Amino acid sequence: MIDLRSDTLTRPTEAMLESMREASFGDDSRDGDATVQKLEAMAAERTGKEAGAFVPSGTMTNLVAMLTHAQRGGEVLLEQGSHTLTAELGGIAGVAGLFYRGIPGKRGAMDLERLGEAVRPTTRHQMGTALIWMENTHNRAGGAVLPLAHMKAVHGLAREKGIPVHLDGARIFNAAISLGVPPLEIAQYSDSVCFCVSKGLSAPVGSILCGSAAFIERARANRRMVGGNMRQAGPLAAAGIVALETMVNRLPEDHQSAKRLAEGFHRIDASLCDPKDVETNLVRVDLKKSGKRAAQWSADLKTKGVLVAPADTWTLRFVTHRHISAPDVDAAVGAFADLWKKSLDTKDTKDTKEKQIRI
Ligand SMILES: Cc1ncc(COP(=O)(O)O)c(C=O)c1O
Repeated sequence: MIDLRSDTLTRPTEAMLESMREASFGDDSRDGDATVQKLEAMAAERTGKEAGAFVPSGTMTNLVAMLTHAQRGGEVLLEQGSHTLTAELGGIAGVAGLFYRGIPGKRGAMDLERLGEAVRPTTRHQMGTALIWMENTHNRAGGAVLPLAHMKAVHGLAREKGIPVHLDGARIFNAAISLGVPPLEIAQYSDSVCFCVSKGLSAPVGSILCGSAAFIERARANRRMVGGNMRQAGPLAAAGIVALETMVNRLPEDHQSAKRLAEGFHRIDASLCDPKDVETNLVRVDLKKSGKRAAQWSADLKTKGVLVAPADTWTLRFVTHRHISAPDVDAAVGAFADLWKKSLDTKDTKDTKEKQIRI
């Protein structure tokens, strides 16, 4: 099977498994654990923040960040397709007790004018803006990278109004590679940032939330509240350390695979995707022209040995990662091409029949 559903499928490397065996087994929730502390310090350094806290998942780092930045009843402004609004099951409202407003955006970047209009103070008649949120790379925008100038503008606007900024940087290293800058140049435009070692970086589990020392101290209490304190987390942190040390520099390979995939789809039919839109390791494929929904495409591709998940009714999301080689990409494109031809032929026959019935 060529599994293009997610970069979270990456298995730990031999070096990771080795480091996990040798890791410390301190109780991180009681006395602290040396390996966890090392990972947290590395994460803070990479993102240019004072401190970090190791958390089981990206969703939980985001939740802990909102709980730490904002009071219940405050309003969070974030791009309307953000992972937090579309894939975290409403924890923002249901658990953190926050209101939110999705700001329309282009390729994951909020419309600055609309954002500026949405910012408001707390008065006796309205809830004020408690937090501004960015996501880089942006998942639903197909791994799009927020330009630094955009991030700077959002940060500037927030600063002016005294509003904190969180960056969901689940794939910040992919963004950094694409922009050709260290991740701290991206994270400088936020007060807190989280990233995952469990995605393209191949560690089995974990995300790190980074920010000022005072912020992280408060975040640790919220992490405990939502059940995210881990005990002997040393082995997980050990894999995370190896991920940071050895897996970042290979991410360009995943970006090249994604480009190759997009170029393959584009050659089949230009309506499927524009390779110019592919900046990192995600490729969104628009299936409308086939008249066949993404769920059916996913099922049909599975019969040809290709696993891929629907992103919405008419879109498939392909994710490249360490276990996807150039021949895998070509095989996936080949399987897709066969099905594409068949589905267009079927659609033509169906359309002609419908026309005849109407006549
Ligand atoms: C942008 C973004 N944020 C957060 C998450 C959540 O991470 P996790 O699956 O570790 O909860 C994801 C997962 O894909 C993501 O893409």
